[in-house]
This record gives sequence, structure tokens and C-alpha cells, in this order.
Amino acid sequence: MPYEETNWLKLWEELVSARKLAHAGRDGFSFNRKERAEAFEAGSRRKNKEKGDLFLNFMRFDLKPGETVLDIGAGTGRWTVPLAKVAKAVTSIEPASAMLDILKKNLSEAGVSNVKVIQSSWENADVTPHDIANLIETIHQTPEMHGT
Ligand SMILES: C[S@@+](CC[C@H](N)C(=O)[O-])C[C@H]1O[C@@H](n2cnc3c(N)ncnc32)[C@H](O)[C@@H]1O
Repeated sequence: MPYEETNWLKLWEELVSARKLAHAGRDGFSFNRKERAEAFEAGSRRKNKEKGDLFLNFMRFDLKPGETVLDIGAGTGRWTVPLAKVAKAVTSIEPASAMLDILKKNLSEAGVSNVKVIQSSWENADVTPHDIANLIETIHQTPEMHGT
């Protein structure tokens, strides 16, 4: 099969459209709601159990212990926590308070202290360059990305 280069802008547009369809008729930004954040966390734990660490296994090929990771739209920390165990440091950007409450609890329970948490959207966050950026399940949350 011939190698086909990924058109990231087109992929992002498709993801934004799919999200719009899936969320049609629902109210605004639901991740600020405690019940929504708790349901998301329960889903993440279930997925981790069912699917294992597919992404982490992939990341571990690239991520070296001295490197830094930017976790964009970190949510409740599904990736922040395990990445922090490998990376030198992780910066987690997350705008929703309800998600952040769970993220902070998860960080404390995991005993990791190399994570800086920033409450912000990624568009407004003031961060220094990192070695690796992770934006799993976040890219489609940003409807307007042309030119960024
Ligand atoms: C579907 S969750 C994914 C969370 C995490 N990345 C994961 O895979 O478990 C999407 C997250 O992106 C956050 N988010 C939405 N818009 C964002 C933005 N503009 N900048 C940063 N995070 C954003 C939401 O608050 C939510 O926590």
C-alpha cells in the first residue's frame, strides 16, 4: 500500500464535525460539571482496564526519562499520571475545574510531584516549549484552529 501523508487539518475538521453531530442539542461545555467529570473518570478507568496502555506503549518508544511532556486538555489525568512516571516533568493544561479536581486527586494518590497543572485553555496558556505534546481526545474540542 502506498504511503499516504496525513492531512492533519482535514482530520481535525472531520473530528470537529463528528463532535458537533454527537453533541447536537446538548448544553455548552459539560466538563465543568462534577457529574460529567466523574462519569468521564469512570469511563477512563474502564477503558484503561479493557484496552491496557496502548498509547503509553507507543509513547514509551519516543519518551525518554529526561524529557518533558505537555498534556493538552489533560482531563482527569488518564495520560498525565503515567507519563509523569516516565518523563522528567509534565505540564498539564486543563480549563475545567471539575476535571482538575479529579486530576489533582489522582496526582496526589499516585504520589507524583513533577506535574505542573495550569487551569486554562491551550490557546491562552503561557507555556515554555516541551519535548513532546499530547492532545489525545482534545483536538476536536477546539472548533477554530485555522492559522494556529
Ligand atoms: C474528552 S476529554 C480528554 C481528556 C484526556 N486528554 C484524556 O484523553 O483522557 C477533553 C478535555 O479537553 C479539555 N478541553 C476542551 N477544550 C480545551 C481547550 N481549548 N484547551 C485545553 N483543554 C480543553 C476538556 O475540558 C476535557 O477535559
